[in-house]
Amino acid sequence: MAVKIVPSILSADQADLGAVVRRLLAAGLDTIHLDVMDGNFVPPITFGAKLLADLKSAAGGVYDAHLMVARPEAQLELFAEAGADWITVHQEAAPHVHRLLDRIKSLGKKAGVSINPGTPVVQLETLFDVADLFLVMTVNPGWGGQGMIESCLDKVRWLKERVETPVMVDGGVNEKTMAAVARAGVDLAVVGSALFQGNLTEVLARLRACAEATPLTADGPPA
Ligand code: DX5
Ligand code: ZN
Repeated sequence: MAVKIVPSILSADQADLGAVVRRLLAAGLDTIHLDVMDGNFVPPITFGAKLLADLKSAAGGVYDAHLMVARPEAQLELFAEAGADWITVHQEAAPHVHRLLDRIKSLGKKAGVSINPGTPVVQLETLFDVADLFLVMTVNPGWGGQGMIESCLDKVRWLKERVETPVMVDGGVNEKTMAAVARAGVDLAVVGSALFQGNLTEVLARLRACAEATPLTADGPPA
């Protein structure tokens, strides 16, 4: 199965987000990853629900709201009303994540749960029956452009051995790391800064080529 690329607009020119989203959609990337940061769960402050609503009405698209916020329960209705299609909360941000995922689903949205690099993947086990998406962070959240912590891909392998639920990775996906991402069995890969370095069509073609040129051999993965 091919890795689906999900663009994050975190590293885009924020004065130009409507045009950026139109360009991404025109390039065939149908789902936009919105990195919502509250200055508390992570230091930066980024986007609120109104931006999602405005982008959706101006440009269309499917929206995946990645809530890096300390009190996700306060944001669920807001993002649902704004038109988010997927809402992902962090395991580390709430004591009752199962309930939050249920709540997201009762709002008619797909429910995701994310874990930071320092969080053991086994913590997701009690969410197998409710999560629509597992988002494995491959950097510590907060900023685009960081190097991938490749050992986090072992968590993807662990999940893929146990569930059919889609697994997404986020952080440091680029032409150097995409092959390892594909080999780990990732279904969806968030790509941020790498998309905004050079011509979008060419970058996408190179990323897809990296994802495909990764056969597993009896001798193990290619170096
Ligand atoms: C990091 C965000 C990511 C980020 C990825 O906290 O959750 O979505 O935008 O950016 P890159 O691809 O540059 O690592
Ligand atoms: Zn993200």
